[in-house]
Amino acid sequence: MMSEIIMTKLTIDNYNWWNPFTQINFFLKSPVIIEKAEGVYIFDIHNRKYLDVSSSMWNVCLGHNQKEIINTITEQYQKLDFVSPFRASNDVAIRLTDKLASLCPINSAKIFLTCNGSDSVEAGIKIARQYFRLKKMNKYKIISLENSYHGVSYGAMACSGFEEDKQYFLPIPDGFIQIPSPNCYHCAYDSKYPACQLQCASFLETTILKEGTDTVAMFIMEPVMGMGGVIIPPEGYYEIIVDICKKYNILFMLDEVTTGLGRTGKLFAAEIWNLSPDMMALGKALSNGYFPIGATVVTREIWNAFLGDDSVRFNHGSTYFGHPVGCAAALRCIELIEKGNYLIKISELSDFFAQLLKQLREHPLVGDVRSIGMMFAVEFVEDKELKTPLNSEKMKKLVIGCHTQGLWAHFAGNTMLIFPSFIVDRNLLETVYHILLKVLKMIEKR
Ligand SMILES: Cc1ncc(COP(=O)(O)O)c(C=O)c1O
Repeated sequence: MMSEIIMTKLTIDNYNWWNPFTQINFFLKSPVIIEKAEGVYIFDIHNRKYLDVSSSMWNVCLGHNQKEIINTITEQYQKLDFVSPFRASNDVAIRLTDKLASLCPINSAKIFLTCNGSDSVEAGIKIARQYFRLKKMNKYKIISLENSYHGVSYGAMACSGFEEDKQYFLPIPDGFIQIPSPNCYHCAYDSKYPACQLQCASFLETTILKEGTDTVAMFIMEPVMGMGGVIIPPEGYYEIIVDICKKYNILFMLDEVTTGLGRTGKLFAAEIWNLSPDMMALGKALSNGYFPIGATVVTREIWNAFLGDDSVRFNHGSTYFGHPVGCAAALRCIELIEKGNYLIKISELSDFFAQLLKQLREHPLVGDVRSIGMMFAVEFVEDKELKTPLNSEKMKKLVIGCHTQGLWAHFAGNTMLIFPSFIVDRNLLETVYHILLKVLKMIEKR
């Protein structure tokens, strides 16, 4: 089969997979077809090797070909391959939800299992709206951050801040509002921290007052914005946000789809700021890519509001929510993260790589370098003073250059996002740095 694909020139007529977020015409000019993976490497059908510093889609945090997870999944398939989650339970889902409840920073947490990050956010939005309806309140509006990313389903997309993407899918459901994100490099108020007095945080209150305090149900944000370019809220931000949410009886949801399960160096990013949100969305690292699974974590108080006779229930769910094989994979993953002492390793590697990357700040094409845990962003600019994005021609060369040098990284606009898996070491990170330097030099010369 492999040779057949190598021999075939792929065209828009004979290529039948409609890949997500992909211009097929562009993709087919030099298609990358991955055939196998091992550890932090992926290999294409020509046996070209790429160092994957994106942990695939930020989810393969323990690397590829993890024998223990594969064995667990195989055993689970043989024992219980599937059972409907509707009004029936399964032992693995119970064990997984027990485990997540014991670990996550929400006391007496209850867990709604899903299939991915978008699902987890979508469920959170519906839970928030129904929660207030059950309390006989008409609070339905969802506030989120500009440039945030929460997923692709209608609700998750509506609270994402990527306006261009949304334009194709109008009309967007009602009641979704965005406020400026805590992005100090591109401050919406043209100010500097701490002189800014965190206007981006207090703008949440301004927005709630404008929208009507009795109409806002929830504020959702990523604790560290991933797709938005590793945006880390400055000290004091969360105190203001949490106070405002409490003051106006608004649910505070953290989207930990990317940050959850170790990515920031804590099991959950919420721990960095001592946050105990009302809801959390999980996905990505939960199964290391072995099975589509996510989770929406809620407080006991929210769960209580849904208890009653059978006419009151959360009428939401999909066939594969709580799939026993996904749950088994997730349980094993969590165990491996705990056993492998990854959180300690991440903090040591994070400091090391951050120091290396910081040297790039002197480079004429680099505007900013940001990092936390295993999340690194390098923002490329045309003009350091004006912070204008590197032009698209140079960006294209940068992307292709990295790729040609065997580096598999993710780019969001003019920002390179390096989210390596937790099994990398100093040598590999040094390699990434040197490839990046080399590619930047090549662009300068041209
Ligand atoms: C913060 C965040 N939320 C939600 C999602 C959506 O997750 P999924 O692609 O699994 O639906 C993503 C995906 O990148 C994400 O980064």
